[in-house]
Amino acid sequence: MNLSAYEKIHFGVDYYPEHWPKERWKKDATLMKELGIDVIRIAEFSWSKYEPEEGKYDFSLIDEVIELMSEYEFKIILGTPSAAPPAWLIKKYPDVQPIDYEGKRRHFGGRHHACQSNKHLRDYIDKYVNRFADHFSDNENVFGWQIDNELGNSHGDLCYCDSCQEEFRKWLKNKYGTINELNEKWGTVFWSQGYRDFDEIIAPKITVTGRNPSQILDWKLFCSDLIVDFHKHQSSIIRRYSDKPITHNFMGFANKVNYFDLAEDLEFVSHDQYPGLFHTDFLHVRNSDLAAALDLMRGTKKQPYWIMEQQSGITGWEIMGRSPKPGQLSLWAGQSIAHGADCVVFFRWRNCIYGTEQYWHGILPHSGIPGRNYNELKEFINKFKPLMEKIKGAMPQNKVGIVFSYNQEYALEIQPHHPDFSYTEQVKNYYNAFHSLNIPVDFLSEDSDFENYNLIVAPSQYLMSDKLEDKYCEYVNQGGQLILTMRSGVKDENNICRTSGSLPCGRLTELLGIEILEYDCLRDVLGTVVFENKNYDVDIWADILSLRTAKELATYGFEYYQGEPSITVNEFGRGKAYYIGTNPSKELLIKFIKLIGEDIDLNLNSKLLIDGVEFVSRQDENTEYIFALNHNEKTVSFERLEGWVDYFEEQSSKIKPYQINVYKKSL
Ligand code: GAL
Repeated sequence: MNLSAYEKIHFGVDYYPEHWPKERWKKDATLMKELGIDVIRIAEFSWSKYEPEEGKYDFSLIDEVIELMSEYEFKIILGTPSAAPPAWLIKKYPDVQPIDYEGKRRHFGGRHHACQSNKHLRDYIDKYVNRFADHFSDNENVFGWQIDNELGNSHGDLCYCDSCQEEFRKWLKNKYGTINELNEKWGTVFWSQGYRDFDEIIAPKITVTGRNPSQILDWKLFCSDLIVDFHKHQSSIIRRYSDKPITHNFMGFANKVNYFDLAEDLEFVSHDQYPGLFHTDFLHVRNSDLAAALDLMRGTKKQPYWIMEQQSGITGWEIMGRSPKPGQLSLWAGQSIAHGADCVVFFRWRNCIYGTEQYWHGILPHSGIPGRNYNELKEFINKFKPLMEKIKGAMPQNKVGIVFSYNQEYALEIQPHHPDFSYTEQVKNYYNAFHSLNIPVDFLSEDSDFENYNLIVAPSQYLMSDKLEDKYCEYVNQGGQLILTMRSGVKDENNICRTSGSLPCGRLTELLGIEILEYDCLRDVLGTVVFENKNYDVDIWADILSLRTAKELATYGFEYYQGEPSITVNEFGRGKAYYIGTNPSKELLIKFIKLIGEDIDLNLNSKLLIDGVEFVSRQDENTEYIFALNHNEKTVSFERLEGWVDYFEEQSSKIKPYQINVYKKSL
């Protein structure tokens, strides 16, 4: 995408003009202007307002808002409203309402009350989006489009209706060709699950006992593809009328849809960042988890992203979170920018007086009178706007990549092995250790190019294909350093156990130079590992490693396998492959990264190791911009590194609570 198209757009708000009397709009626009707003997102939930009766479209209210807002030079992002189909449509076609995992229908009255494969729904979306895109495509104040809203949200256990079942059968037929092939790949010989025809296959609703992991993996992959298809249905209509950018608001590590796939259909990715969520105490939110979500968003398209909803007040629906402390809203917005946001849109302009979101607070309170949130963000926006112009398009240049795989996430969600094990949490824990050392990380999919990275970390590569195995081998062979962890190489792509030798099987055995002859699921027990003569905690899992060509770096310090290797390194071609056979504590991981960091050029700088202070950088051709974000409730002192020049005149070597210093470095 041509980034110059949005050179002057840096900050925005999510606005619901239909919730407020028209007389108020001007006042809102004036306040937005003073706040420093450039862009406004509207219309993503207002289907019944703009098509109040079937076939009667009336976009005049949107026209009026756009006209007024353009007087203030605001650009508009228009949302298609498919996340909230109107009551008349549901009444006419009740089968649009989705069916849950237990076979029960979910009803009208909230949002997302629709099945994404439903033919009637698709027809009505088709008609609406055609009219909508046709009506607004030539409007020069429309900057771009958002399709639906947070696809996958609220659909965790949806939809299992007849239409989805039919689509699932087609999807399977396309994947396997014949029913015999499917039977083989699903291992249906187990418990008499063999099928004679695709029409015997059901959407996998609740069963009496455990289900077939291969079948459920396919179901999850199908659900993700269905969402991508649902998005494409609308994007292809819009593209017939308009060449303006299309985006969608992602939700970090939410897993219903594969965001790498969805990103392919977008000009740019957007993300909704709510650090507060419903947490009662922000101390329980790891800064690194917030950072990881942002880095994943940047990774899905390998380009800067937008924040389409940035927290701007207390979060809450029926239950509320804590009030962000003075400075914290700005700090979080600054963190979004530091990790790659080219534009930050705040959710929401004003607290809603209706509906379930009455307590999901915005920039203005219910009264509409500016208060602390408004004043704080005004100061922040005015301070950061000139910088936003400079860093637009700038990316970090990272040497470490962490693989995030939806397939591994799905497979390990189906069989987590240990009640406390989560693939995504493991990924975040590895990220957390690098983050604590201020080593910046890119998230990669399994299909990404690895060659520009000095180190690739690929936690639990549980499902292994020949192609992926070759890719890891080739990367290390060419001089890369790779970390694989527990439960790698266990299954094939169809979620069936591999048998071509001892774990980790196939070429991984050669790459890692180990064999795993035994393992232990650490239920209700904390284990220890001895690394550089010190004991460290481990939990969840213990792969008991026997060495072929690898060297041991750590051994277990407990159980009957005390003294057996738990962490190893193997030289392979020009590179090295590490294996961590357990779930290490943060302390152990940090020690381990420091050890291998000496080997790889990871720029470990002890001056930057200040608890609760995050250093993040973005760079263009000539300049590196370094953000120092103080997440602490206390002031911290810090000496800038050589070559770093203060970006803001007023900043000092003491960073106050929730403040951000920015430095420039010439390249
Ligand atoms: C987001 C959603 C918004 C709003 C917000 C606060 O997930 O996209 O529409 O609901 O949460 O609840």
